[in-house]
Amino acid sequence: MLPVRAMLGDPLAYHTVGSWTFGRLPRVDITQAFPRIEEAEIVLVKPLGGDAETSVTPHEMAVLCAIVRSTGAKRILEIGTFDGRTALNLAANAPADGLVTTVDLPADWNRGLALKVPHHAMNATSVLPSGLKYRDTPYAPRVRQVYGDSAALDWSALGVPFDMVFIDGCHSYDYVMSDTLRALGSVRQGGLVIWHDYGMIEDVSRVVDETASRIQVRAIRSTSLAVGFVS
Ligand SMILES: C[S@@+](CC[C@H](N)C(=O)[O-])C[C@H]1O[C@@H](n2cnc3c(N)ncnc32)[C@H](O)[C@@H]1O
Repeated sequence: MLPVRAMLGDPLAYHTVGSWTFGRLPRVDITQAFPRIEEAEIVLVKPLGGDAETSVTPHEMAVLCAIVRSTGAKRILEIGTFDGRTALNLAANAPADGLVTTVDLPADWNRGLALKVPHHAMNATSVLPSGLKYRDTPYAPRVRQVYGDSAALDWSALGVPFDMVFIDGCHSYDYVMSDTLRALGSVRQGGLVIWHDYGMIEDVSRVVDETASRIQVRAIRSTSLAVGFVS
């Protein structure tokens, strides 16, 4: 049953995990997807106060950081920088010689996109320039900002192969599919592709469900993260 009173009392609580409306994958505990993750010690930097409508939740941030820590992911690509809080935390939990490459549209973006996108799915944020949260932190040297349209960029020039790609850019079906196919071609064998908004956004959920017929994908309980294991 829908917890209507809870929704009215805290719409954002509903927005985070209550609105799991889409997606066919069963949700598993993070420890089922990553058996040794309970041991992970993580660093969380500025995890609170993010834009709850746009960013990952603090719990999702902890899960992402623990995945980085427990897998030792060094070369990480994020599609969709926004304010840079997630790039900052991925960098803080990567080894000292790790590098997080994060992609967003440029500050002078002319609102044109390489793929056709319905207006409601544009998802281009107004935090420009993106990445403000990681700048002026000790982790800034581990973050490389790239400006461009994820469907127009040459991913092979971004530093392939990656250990992990986090897809959180434009949420239209065509963009998520384009980002996913490029991610699958850019991640090393044994690496990870992680999507945000699984279960919450229909287009994202469709792409993830379709990808689950090609590779193993685990949807992580109490988050909107889905993790694909590239073999
Ligand atoms: C949901 S926000 C990303 C949130 C961020 N990953 C976080 O965890 O806080 C989506 C971002 O993707 C960017 N974006 C949208 N379309 C894009 C595109 N075609 N190429 C690159 N970035 C895009 C938006 O400007 C926005 O900053």
